[in-house]
Amino acid sequence: MAERPTKSVPEILMSHTGHPAFNKAAELLDLKVVRVRANSDCRAEIGAIRQHVTENTIMIVGSAPAYPMGCVDPIADLAQIANESGLWLHVDACVGGFFLPFARELDDVPAFDFILKGVRSISADLHKHGYTSRGASLLLLADKRFEQYQRFFFDAWPVGELVTMTIAGSRPGGAVASAWAVMNFLGRAGYRERVRKIIEARRALIPEIQSLEELRVLGIPKAGIVGIGGADGIDMRAVSQRMMDWQTI
Ligand SMILES: Cc1ncc(COP(=O)(O)O)c(C=O)c1O
Repeated sequence: MAERPTKSVPEILMSHTGHPAFNKAAELLDLKVVRVRANSDCRAEIGAIRQHVTENTIMIVGSAPAYPMGCVDPIADLAQIANESGLWLHVDACVGGFFLPFARELDDVPAFDFILKGVRSISADLHKHGYTSRGASLLLLADKRFEQYQRFFFDAWPVGELVTMTIAGSRPGGAVASAWAVMNFLGRAGYRERVRKIIEARRALIPEIQSLEELRVLGIPKAGIVGIGGADGIDMRAVSQRMMDWQTI
């Protein structure tokens, strides 16, 4: 917003597969989220994204992958739009942040990170494929200079300067300490091994789903989530419930 003052309510532009957390943040920050339909591959539809950039757009969000179907948005194309329009591109890698970098060694994974000029921030959840307990997560910035937009600074009180980087002020450090311990325990080799097992399971699962006439795999899963769609008349919520019941038998 500081770099791109708008005439009306500032807008975040993303595929409809993006996480509701952006709408939650937008409610708090008086922003608007513009969601456009994904393409048949469940990935952000680049033409539609380009079409919806307006003078009020401040940020584009791409998911790596999106939670609903596990597909990675075409981040390189989103970066191109962001660069052309001077927009912030945030990559939501909450699910993929600790998966895709290791999957690269075993699978064809499209660039989704700071390798791409235009990606300015990436979120990655430690408590998902990082295997740590909840309560600590990551927001990575492409440039130290971007910290200024996150920092809250106040000095009009008797103690002097107060600087804080997060919405919550005083925070418990336990989750950070436990995340540090888990990451050191697993190390790169531990993460790589876990990703390898998940990719193996995914590769075994996909042909089985595809062999069933009533079901189909949605898009091209690149992480540990496999989206399954049903033929006409198949109630996928019932299928999902049955699978969950089966799990608990
Ligand atoms: C892809 C993705 N983005 C964002 C979030 C939001 O995280 P939070 O639960 O911290 O709001 C999640 C949480 O599950 C997620 O899966």
